[in-house]
Amino acid sequence: MKNETSQIQLPSEILLEKPNKNIIVPTFVKWAGGKTQLLSQFEKFFPPQFNRYYEPFLGSGAVFFYLKNLYPEKEFFLSDNNPELINCYEFVKNDLEGLLELLREYRSKHSKEYYYTQRNMDTNNLSKIESAARFIYLNKTCFNGLFRVNSKGKFNVPIGSYKNPSIFKEKDIIEAHKLLQDVTLKTMLFEEIINFALPDDFIYFDPPYYPLSPTSSFTSYTSTSFSEKDQQRLAKVYHQLDKKGCLLMLSNSYSNFILELYSDYRIEKVSAKRMINCNGNGRGAIAEAVILNY
Ligand SMILES: C[S@@+](CC[C@H](N)C(=O)[O-])C[C@H]1O[C@@H](n2cnc3c(N)ncnc32)[C@H](O)[C@@H]1O
Repeated sequence: MKNETSQIQLPSEILLEKPNKNIIVPTFVKWAGGKTQLLSQFEKFFPPQFNRYYEPFLGSGAVFFYLKNLYPEKEFFLSDNNPELINCYEFVKNDLEGLLELLREYRSKHSKEYYYTQRNMDTNNLSKIESAARFIYLNKTCFNGLFRVNSKGKFNVPIGSYKNPSIFKEKDIIEAHKLLQDVTLKTMLFEEIINFALPDDFIYFDPPYYPLSPTSSFTSYTSTSFSEKDQQRLAKVYHQLDKKGCLLMLSNSYSNFILELYSDYRIEKVSAKRMINCNGNGRGAIAEAVILNY
């Protein structure tokens, strides 16, 4: 039987080459700026040799899953500043059966009413495993898989218009569980990477993008958005890690602001299919920058 979820699904018109069919990329959350569609274009940019791997803006973890297939023996260190997201990874890694059981329950109860009951729930009253299952459930049933919270940190995305949302694929969660074994997970701000990374470690940075126009980008992944100052602080961290001898790859918008911030480095262009308007019904190919220090 054809294993659909175990293959990278990419819009064929932007593929230069077919991706390696044996590579399993079981992303289990739908994430703004997800990199699954870019993996075949990224292949040639990954360093041929490195020591440990760090991904400080993890999101759905497409690049991590891809590299873990290629280098199962290496040390992987994954982080994000979204504690609910990292909590999900912890349960996929450590309590597969418990999480699947809860997810099946959420799936069987899914309705508009149930969505809003879950969305409006006080998360302080939930156990960590309930938070993880609720997070995946809301992610797969909300509008466009967006993660957006209000100023009080409360998830506030409306329900999506899916007839029959899949919510989760058991196969993907099981594959993700396997690939996450031996991996270190941490909720942290990207700056903290400075305290961990050593020479010859490879770090892939995928921050919220600098917007191409004031309305073109959704940068509010957590209660605080990623500002121009954050982009500048990130560029400073990039410079520091470069001096330290780390191997660095960073994605961002192909904008003058970003090209200037990283003008000391090699800048490549890739082509991604992205939402091109704010109501979410337009998609188009757009150039994105990949910044490398090797
Ligand atoms: C563009 S997404 C990453 C997408 C990911 N590469 C994928 O394939 O799905 C950016 C991520 O950065 C996280 N983030 C935002 N601000 C951060 C910060 N200051 N420190 C660490 N992570 C942050 C968000 O929670 C989000 O998951």
